[in-house]
Amino acid sequence: MIIAIDGPAASGKGTLGKRLAAHYKFRHLDTGVIYRAVAKVLLDAGADLTDEKRAVAVAYALDPEKFGNPALKTQEVGEAASVVSTIPAVRAALISFQRHFAGEPPGAVLDGRDIGTVICPHADVKIFVVADPYVRARRRTLEAIGRGEAADEAAVLADILKRDERDRNRAAAPLKAADDAVLLDNSHLDIESGVRAAIDIVEAVRAGRQRI
Ligand code: DC
Repeated sequence: MIIAIDGPAASGKGTLGKRLAAHYKFRHLDTGVIYRAVAKVLLDAGADLTDEKRAVAVAYALDPEKFGNPALKTQEVGEAASVVSTIPAVRAALISFQRHFAGEPPGAVLDGRDIGTVICPHADVKIFVVADPYVRARRRTLEAIGRGEAADEAAVLADILKRDERDRNRAAAPLKAADDAVLLDNSHLDIESGVRAAIDIVEAVRAGRQRI
């Protein structure tokens, strides 16, 4: 089984993805980390984020062993990832890794922006997570403070709004709900309630399929 979870920055889709994967004993891939890893290599080299040739070469040379690097989680890297991810050739370079991950048994949960629309259009369950931008900014700020980083909530909100705009309006695989995705509004749910709601969606979709 493949579960696709898409949604905007800081919507909680990553946590939901991880928790759903643990619940069903599936593997989990936070696909944002892949774009962040490409961006980080370019940032560290002082390279132009829109240098297509270089970004594509970096994308093909990625080492998945490094996806756990906490330095990928910063706001700066997230913003750079959003820029790099607008390049169609970079997205194309990362497709086969994601599809391969999704296809391996016993099942997988992938979270991102285009999982239900482009990477796994035949996913068994698609969830599109939304949350109020102010709530997302508050959560992202508290997470940053928890990591010992300085964080200004107004600046975090501005970053989130800018990123939403770019992710939604890019030509290549923009952030949008697949026609057959189930919407999950995570604005007023704590983590446990969000996980419960996501499991309920998975079970409802599976039950619906079995009746057909
Ligand atoms: O989910 P995140 O904040 O880690 O994602 C960082 C950026 O990567 C996001 O702003 C856009 C890009 N991204 C993408 O284009 N497609 C995905 N499937 C995941 C992330």
